[in-house]
Amino acid sequence: MSAAERLGTCDVARLFAPPEQRFAEFSREVDGLLLDFTRQPLDTPALEALLGLADASDLPGAIESLFAGEQVNHTEGRAALHTLLRVPSAVSLPTHLETLHREVLAERARCAAFVAEVHAGQRTGATGERFTDVLNIGIGGSDLGPAMAVEALRPFHLGRVSCHFISNVDGTQFADLADRLDPARTLVVVCSKTFTTQETLANANLVRAWLTEALGESAVPRHFAAVSTNSSAMDQFGIGADARFVIWDWVGGRYSMWSAIGLALELAVGSEHFQAFLAGGHAMDKHFRSAPLRDNLPVLLGLLAIWNRNGLGNASHAILPYTQRLARFPAYLQQLEMESLGKSVDAAGNPLQRSSGPVIFGEPGSNAQHSFFQLLHQGSGGVSMDFLLPVTPPAGDRGGSQLAMANCLAQMQALMAGQGPDAVRADLEKRGLDSKAARQLLPHKLHRGSRPMSLLAFRQLDPRTLGMLVALYEHKVFVQAALWGLNPFDQWGVELGKQLCNSLLPALTGKDGPALPAELAPLLGWMR
Ligand code: F6P
Repeated sequence: MSAAERLGTCDVARLFAPPEQRFAEFSREVDGLLLDFTRQPLDTPALEALLGLADASDLPGAIESLFAGEQVNHTEGRAALHTLLRVPSAVSLPTHLETLHREVLAERARCAAFVAEVHAGQRTGATGERFTDVLNIGIGGSDLGPAMAVEALRPFHLGRVSCHFISNVDGTQFADLADRLDPARTLVVVCSKTFTTQETLANANLVRAWLTEALGESAVPRHFAAVSTNSSAMDQFGIGADARFVIWDWVGGRYSMWSAIGLALELAVGSEHFQAFLAGGHAMDKHFRSAPLRDNLPVLLGLLAIWNRNGLGNASHAILPYTQRLARFPAYLQQLEMESLGKSVDAAGNPLQRSSGPVIFGEPGSNAQHSFFQLLHQGSGGVSMDFLLPVTPPAGDRGGSQLAMANCLAQMQALMAGQGPDAVRADLEKRGLDSKAARQLLPHKLHRGSRPMSLLAFRQLDPRTLGMLVALYEHKVFVQAALWGLNPFDQWGVELGKQLCNSLLPALTGKDGPALPAELAPLLGWMR
């Protein structure tokens, strides 16, 4: 019998004999971040087999090539050096990375100086007023990471500026904000690695028109900052030399929040907290690079994902934070995981022999309990889960953390232990149901339990811990990619739709353009 057959239908509660031993063997803690995978359908031989797979796939070699700056993103001929963005200034690096690191540090210092000037009121708007609001315009990696982190670290905001994010091409987010923002006190940060992204340019032009209507063209360099690799596009837009920040082609969009793409976050929490966020990421990098595979958090989390996807056949994975502060974390992970792992060919272009990235979805657990948890408890399966739980709230943060904690632990216990026929029957009898009614109701109240899940618990959701968490998931994705043999750093799948959109737009705006695909003609006819 294979490990998957043995464990796929096992009673996970039985693996807890005794619980202390299971916890010792199936949990790891790094710097106050606990990964508890005792509730996964996994035993010692299965864990050893997964670790053997990692060894056989030369995962340590793959990790080294990532950190060494090799061209791991071979379809785009690039390294993936997001780890360099969080290396502190004092760390010495091999010569070929030193030059890049110096550029990173210089840009980091420019961002910190910019933030300090805004906070001190030395950098003002065109009318001399202080900036009170920051509007980040970007999409995908130029939006999701910073937006998630600004929300997650709200107790650490300095209160100098309020940050807002717009991304959707339909313009509604800005329409909702425009009445509340004063152009004279609004600093706009356009984040776009390419500065060609249609949604971002549409929003940037919309906001520019709003701003120049109130303050005139000359206000643009005072009110707009930008982060991009594309200097000529920034020139064209009128971004001043002192308000433009560079990123590099070796930083993937979904890995870029550590760079100047995190400017809105730094403006919200200040440079000291931003540095702590970087330090958390760097601590996780050091751990990932040096810890033995069996004690390595990203490696274990990645192996658990592979076990769930390929061993147990779970095609969906839920992210369930038990704090509202991480409300955008599932959305952030959707891009990180699905844009990285949603591939069907290996690095050499051959079809993958195994299923790759699962569907990622999620919501804060408390709210999700009242929406999709029904399916997690009693649905036909196929979903693995990560619970995320801060154990204490940050100083000064109000909120019922104990209630949230109790809910999280209760849900995990119910999903693991379930409720079998004897317990359901006893409960129904206790409620006074007669035996016929009890018999009819019984199947509806069964919880089969043994649902696969891990818990990530941490003392507090502070900047350093958030940095650790984000880097943990980045590396977890890398582990999956390495074992599946795919390139997690490209995203060719998003291009086709973009091209089609460009060729459809003329038809929708009544202009001449390429012939429409025949399949769309009836629908367009209806829309007219
Ligand atoms: O369309 C996908 C994508 O390329 C993402 O990978 C990226 O994060 C996003 O678009 C935004 O790209 P840019 O930062 O170049 O505007």
